Amino acid sequence: MCGIVGYVGKRQAAPILVEGLSKLEYRGYDSAGVAIIDEAGNMNVSKCKGRLANLEGKLEQEPVQGLIGIGHTRWATHGEPSDRNSHPHTNEKETISVVHNGIIENYMHLREWLISKGYKFYSETDTEVIPNLVDYFYDGNLLDAVMKAVSKMEGSYALGVVSTYEPDKIVAVRKDSPLIVGVGAEENFIASDVPAILNQTRDVYYLNDKEFVVLTETGVEIYSAEGEKINKELHHVTWNADAAEKGGFEHFMIKEIHEQPKVIKDTMTSRIMPGKPVTLDDIKITKEQIENIDKVYIVACGTAYHAGIVGKYVIERLARIPVEVDIASEFRYRNPIINDRTLMIVVSQSGETADTLAALREARAQGARVIAVTNVVGSSVSREADDVLYTWAGPEIAVASTKAYTTQLITMYMIGLFFAQNRNTLTTEEIESIKNDMLTLPEKVEETLNHKEVLQKFAANTYMHKDMFFLGRGLDYAVAMEGSLKLKEISYIHSEAYAGGELKHGTIALIEPGTIVVALATQKSLYEKMVSNIKEVTTRGAKVLGLAVEGNTDVEKAVESAIYIPEVQEVLLPVLSVVPLQLLAYYMAIQKGCDVDKPRNLAKSVTVE
Ligand code: F6R
Repeated sequence: MCGIVGYVGKRQAAPILVEGLSKLEYRGYDSAGVAIIDEAGNMNVSKCKGRLANLEGKLEQEPVQGLIGIGHTRWATHGEPSDRNSHPHTNEKETISVVHNGIIENYMHLREWLISKGYKFYSETDTEVIPNLVDYFYDGNLLDAVMKAVSKMEGSYALGVVSTYEPDKIVAVRKDSPLIVGVGAEENFIASDVPAILNQTRDVYYLNDKEFVVLTETGVEIYSAEGEKINKELHHVTWNADAAEKGGFEHFMIKEIHEQPKVIKDTMTSRIMPGKPVTLDDIKITKEQIENIDKVYIVACGTAYHAGIVGKYVIERLARIPVEVDIASEFRYRNPIINDRTLMIVVSQSGETADTLAALREARAQGARVIAVTNVVGSSVSREADDVLYTWAGPEIAVASTKAYTTQLITMYMIGLFFAQNRNTLTTEEIESIKNDMLTLPEKVEETLNHKEVLQKFAANTYMHKDMFFLGRGLDYAVAMEGSLKLKEISYIHSEAYAGGELKHGTIALIEPGTIVVALATQKSLYEKMVSNIKEVTTRGAKVLGLAVEGNTDVEKAVESAIYIPEVQEVLLPVLSVVPLQLLAYYMAIQKGCDVDKPRNLAKSVTVE
């Protein structure tokens, strides 16, 4: 995710940049750095691996003077966290420095092209192409050079650029990554987010995609991609610092729930494209190895385990390989049957969960190949697995996982499709149709987020209950488990998830007048059967919140309240159906006055057994 800041004015830039970065550490903390132009016109770059405190220590020992500069806090995507991969990145002559948040999808191509023109590269990052491109195009006008460089770039970016050629200005631009401009008295700022500048100014411009800005001590000029000057409205921010850090949301959890359309899109970027085969970045597993797999284990804990259950349905359905899903803490002690035709997929947001890591080591020791699905570049599982697929969800701060889960689902679809492609279990048309539907998911998640009122009302009427049940069949059952876990962990309401058909084998004895049930009936092939299960519980007095696909309004006859999600092919529905359940858990916890972001007894990353 990364955070960027920039300052130009009459004060020393370093302390202002560092203070701004400290407010952006929630966006990443793999490394930090600044580039400052001193009054003699020299570029001074100071950067290092690790949290901002390391950079602060370095700057204390070797202070960097200057009234203009840019800063960065990194969440690694391309290249492990290291001093070398830290931002800012410069051209070889150190005349141009860049901080970047986002991903340059065509960087390999640009890099090769620049190498052919004599440019040298020192990092593994996508970002390093940018100062070199700006250098290539520089012809006396920094804005013009940045515009030309950007026109060659595909992907997402928020950029801050400074150059010793024009040492009085910062040039910035954004596309699909956030960037704001802060306006002060004889000083101006750029930042990824409002909190970074809130101690300096409350007057901001919110930039739109492909808008360029030139900041000097005395002014801010904004230009369109065509180079025309734009007059924008200056906003006065009234949020307090705490609200600003959460993007105006009350909690990180609800902010992260709302980030899902963006991070789902990011996770598919350059991997799922219409008319092109599914491309899984650096995955080294060969077609022959994929053909030879006779068993897949998906191993994970908690929410990641629930994503694995969806993964089982998906990989079996799309690639026709038998899949077992295991809780990591069970897997490692049950002496599973593993050989060199076994593939293990470990799923871990943090990449540091002790049990998941131990299961990975066990499987590798017995000859299995391991693919890690993780959100953290350079994490333990990413280092120890044979292959890594990153979920590009950005840092997840709330303890309850939301955006990591939906991006894990996306990754399961991508693996399923990739295997289907290599094993010829689906036709090109079938693969194309799933991919096309996947590309509509960001927009459909956005639509699903609009159902807040029904959920808020349902939560207000039911939060005092001590127990709840979640019912579903097939993929809905997998999502019901995740909905139940979300509710338990943040609202402390006891809940159970049941497969609809299993109800009458015992659990239905618990249903009595007033029992609260959330019933998922999104799967077309199981819809009628699920409606029968709903009737079984309503007959016994249960109050049911039904979740169905738009158009299936007859579900309303059987339930107290109903929520609808947009239509998409059955296998992809979990990405949409989990969203109302995340919101429901959130509103329940709010009603109960719980500490949503830091639920009792829980830690974000469980690094002990
Ligand atoms: C629940 C939650 C946990 C984690 C679990 C695994 O909201 O966040 O259940 O999913 O502790 O963590 P990772 O994915 O980091 O291995």
